[in-house]
Amino acid sequence: MKAFITGITGQDGSYLAEFLLGKGYEIHGLIRRSSTFNTARIDHLYRDFHDPAARIFLHYGDLSVSGQLTDLLYDIRPDEIYHLGAQSHVRVSFDMPEYTGDVTALGTLRLLEALRKTGIPTRFYQASSSEMFGAAPPPQNESTPFRPRSPYAAAKVYAHHMVCNYREAYGLFACNGILFNHESPRRGETFVTRKITRAATRIKLGLTDRLYLGNLDAKRDWGYAGDYVEAMWLMLQQERADDYVIATGHTHSVREFAQKVFGILGLDYEKYVVIDPRYFRPTEVDVLLGDADKARRILGWQPKVNFDALIAMMVEADLDLAGREKTLLEAGYVVSGNSQQG
Ligand code: NAP
Ligand code: GDD
Repeated sequence: MKAFITGITGQDGSYLAEFLLGKGYEIHGLIRRSSTFNTARIDHLYRDFHDPAARIFLHYGDLSVSGQLTDLLYDIRPDEIYHLGAQSHVRVSFDMPEYTGDVTALGTLRLLEALRKTGIPTRFYQASSSEMFGAAPPPQNESTPFRPRSPYAAAKVYAHHMVCNYREAYGLFACNGILFNHESPRRGETFVTRKITRAATRIKLGLTDRLYLGNLDAKRDWGYAGDYVEAMWLMLQQERADDYVIATGHTHSVREFAQKVFGILGLDYEKYVVIDPRYFRPTEVDVLLGDADKARRILGWQPKVNFDALIAMMVEADLDLAGREKTLLEAGYVVSGNSQQG
């Protein structure tokens, strides 16, 4: 089996690539040209393409360029497409609404069009998002109306409906996975969970003394990314294409997350966390709490890692990272990547 993954260099792309390699897939990933390396999350999986054992192949491209997506599909002829590429940061989408619409909304349309034009019998997964529920009261499931509260959410709603439309209009096997927040040690450092575990562990080792955050009262249904990529694959193995909510069914506030992380490290979060209004969003999603009953019944999917285990995993990984950072700093090296942007 051959899979094409957009967003392979992101958190989910790396876990999905690992998962599919374990199932014997050949993997093709879309990567952006960048002046610094952007493949850190998949370096442990990658082998040079000259190596006969190579099973991951990377192709330069961008979701804002349609012709090339069509060419790539012609050349690769994948059995499955996992479309994870997006401008995925909600706060940033308020600063860059047009770019977010171009990549996150129209990027999906470009890929669907490429698929329709090539006529390849491929199964398509779209990374929809619980952020689309926005102001809709919890719990949220597949029947909950979307009430988007950010340019990112509006872009995802557009992409979601285009997937439904291409399924109905052209008979494509296309699924929307409406995933609630999912985290891991590979989470981008400007998303709140990782921002907290990175800062708290650095504080523990004396590398910094402050963590600037925004709204501590927002509540999210946080799961583990490694569990969620299995659900993506399961959706594409069904007889019929459909849309599914993927969530843990538990919700916690940002404050509670911070309290637990600092607590594990023997620290009191109130001594270190400073509220900076720059991190507030013009419109906020107050509570996300998913009902994944449909996925449980039809896909047989359920999460394995709970909230406490997720936090323990992230703290352990970031404590190790902070330790290595400290060693390098003490040896006189400059260490980057500790910006509290986002
Ligand atoms: P992520 O870590 O931010 O990864 C995003 C990926 O998209 C990266 O590989 C990025 O490439 C790529 N990308 C961004 N702009 C692109 C462009 N113009 N052309 C091609 N590729 C581009 O996101 P994630 O957490 O893995 O999430 C994966 C997908 O699921 C996203 O669509 C996200 O919106 C959605 N989602 C995520 C969650 C969650 O909680 N994680 C929940 C629901 C839905 P670079 O590495 O070069 O930046
Ligand atoms: N990023 C960030 N930084 N968020 C903060 C901060 C901060 O300093 N302080 C408080 N928060 C709050 C945000 O206001 C939000 O309510 C919550 O923490 C979670 O923020 P993020 O971790 O940035 O995630 P998100 O929920 O906005 O979006 C993520 O989940 C969506 C699924 O619901 C992203 O992964 C999206 O791509 C995904 O679709």
